Amino acid sequence: MPVNARHVENSKITLTELMIPSYANFGGKIHGGILLSLMDKVAYACASKHSGNYCVTVNIDNVDFLNPVEVGDLVSLKASVNYVGKTSLVVGIRVTAENVKTGEVRHTNTSYFTMVAKDEANNPTIVPELVLEKKVEVRRFLEALKRRELKKEYEAGFSNLKKHTNPEKELSQLENERCQLALA
Ligand SMILES: CC(C)(COP(=O)(O)OP(=O)(O)OC[C@H]1O[C@@H](n2cnc3c(N)ncnc32)[C@H](O)[C@@H]1OP(=O)(O)O)[C@@H](O)C(=O)NCCC(=O)NCCS
Repeated sequence: MPVNARHVENSKITLTELMIPSYANFGGKIHGGILLSLMDKVAYACASKHSGNYCVTVNIDNVDFLNPVEVGDLVSLKASVNYVGKTSLVVGIRVTAENVKTGEVRHTNTSYFTMVAKDEANNPTIVPELVLEKKVEVRRFLEALKRRELKKEYEAGFSNLKKHTNPEKELSQLENERCQLALA
């Protein structure tokens, strides 16, 4: 094992925060931005702990809020390093909200933050290898590798879409959409 390899357990973090009224939107539910900010914080803590350096957020994979979060809920964010590259690493975060009165726990989302470690000069710097001790850690590492490949395919498709979308030739695709054409 390389000297600087680190175990997943070393950087696992759980952050629990009470959802107070000032976090709520006009509908009385918690702002998505509050949860994003907590997720970014926990991703930073976990990544920095693993790398031993300050880290920056580069990419967030899939933030789909599956259940609303209420004022008074206890939100817990469980984070662990799922994958390491050369200077980047992926932190998986599982977010749950607990109703303290009933004890009911809802899964609100699971997201993957890609973080890059920076040195004193603000350049990307090598992160320690990850020691995989459990089957679940191996699975998460493999899944992160696959997501990386899917992301490349998605980005290629997205850039193609931008290059080849031609409003003049594709107006017929809007026929059944809920928009009104009012071109001058
Ligand atoms: C992301 C950033 C570090 C890339 O710097 P760079 O000099 O181009 O370095 P590289 O191209 O070598 O990329 C560094 C690592 O980031 C990864 N990376 C870069 N862009 C990425 C993206 N969009 N998604 C996922 N990973 C990415 C690379 O794959 C590489 O990983 P590896 O070393 O494990 O193989 C740089 O653009 C940056 O600092 N961005 C601002 C980040 C920030 O400040 N975030 C806070 C929010 S404002």
